[in-house]
Amino acid sequence: MSVLITGGAGYIGSHTVIEMLAAGYDVVVADNFYNSKPESIRRVKTLAGKEFPFYQCDIRDKDGLSEIFRKHRIDAVIHFAGLKAVGESVEKPLEYYDCNVGGTLTLCEVMRDAGCKRIVFSSSATVYGSFNPSPLKEDMQTGAVTNPYGRTKYMIEEILKDICRSDNEWTAVLLRYFNPIGAHISGQIGEDPNGIPNNLMPYVSQVAIGKLQQLSIYGDDYDTADGTGVRDYIHVADLALGHVKAVDYALKNKGAEAINLGTGTGYSVLDIVKAFEEANGIKVPYKIAPRRSGDIATCFSDPSKAKRLLGWQAQRNIDDMCRDSWRWQSQNPSGYDGLG
Ligand code: NAD
Ligand code: UD1
Repeated sequence: MSVLITGGAGYIGSHTVIEMLAAGYDVVVADNFYNSKPESIRRVKTLAGKEFPFYQCDIRDKDGLSEIFRKHRIDAVIHFAGLKAVGESVEKPLEYYDCNVGGTLTLCEVMRDAGCKRIVFSSSATVYGSFNPSPLKEDMQTGAVTNPYGRTKYMIEEILKDICRSDNEWTAVLLRYFNPIGAHISGQIGEDPNGIPNNLMPYVSQVAIGKLQQLSIYGDDYDTADGTGVRDYIHVADLALGHVKAVDYALKNKGAEAINLGTGTGYSVLDIVKAFEEANGIKVPYKIAPRRSGDIATCFSDPSKAKRLLGWQAQRNIDDMCRDSWRWQSQNPSGYDGLG
């Protein structure tokens, strides 16, 4: 079975390519390198010990995508490609709707024309908005999202559901990720954010390595055990394995299905700082800062549907996540920079 992985050079995509190859799938990867580097593909090939076709292609390029489907018989698509920075999406909504929504429409058109009607989509816990209480379950109402990035995820989910309603040959697995952190156990691939990181774990790692002076903890007056924000952090390697199971599922089932990929456990910002310090024997200086606008107190998953439908459950704990994040950061202080 052959699977096209869009955005396969990125953070979650690169880990998923490795797990898909290990599971025996043939993969074809397409990425425009907007937020990634050719070096990640080179390292994935080395780690996997396997070659696979790679296309530098934008998902909005219909001819380019069609050419890939002409050259390869694709059974399913894992669709990671897209823009993901919340703050940037507020500044540049047109770019976000064009790339994420427009790109997905083009991809689905090309898939339909090629007779490939199975897609696994990177959605996000952000679609639950700020009103639902945790643990978040797939049947809760979605859509009360406060930024264009989140709205693209919600819109794409709705578009894929409509496509499945209109044609019962389609399958769409809408994977709602919670907070992916960690890196491949080799330390060879990991998250390589541009500029100053927005997300917690890359920020913590860059403080630990001395690139940034101290972490600002955004608020210690939330209604949580220690007052800092609580999230469901999940190891990227577990997330990648969830995609393998989602493709297995998509090959055997029809229709649209939203599925959480999380651990079901919430950790606070202070829990993460302590776990990182203990797992790696390194201090992370921090200060308490005002709340970040748009943040919620608590967000964690009910992961039982993934277990029931996919037979998948996260295996790695918070120490694994902190250790593997640090191994990647310390072995690659500048990420993939300067390496093509
Ligand atoms: P990433 O930026 O590392 O990976 C996305 C990849 O897509 C990059 O390699 C980028 O170059 C590529 N890309 C972007 N636009 C493209 C286009 N028009 N054509 C072809 N390639 C394009 O991000 P990631 O963290 O690996 O996230 C992957 C997916 O998961 C994204 O859709 C993201 O929105 C979603 N997601 C991520 C998180 C997270 O915390 N990382 C959480 C929820 C959902
Ligand atoms: C953010 C996005 C979300 C996106 C997710 C993954 C916002 C409001 N939400 O989620 O849409 O799906 O990233 O890309 O941007 N924190 C600090 N100091 C920091 C960074 C973070 O204290 O320097 C805290 C936050 O307040 C939060 C927790 O750490 O409580 C996790 O933050 P982050 O990693 O940015 O993820 P989310 O806010 O959950």
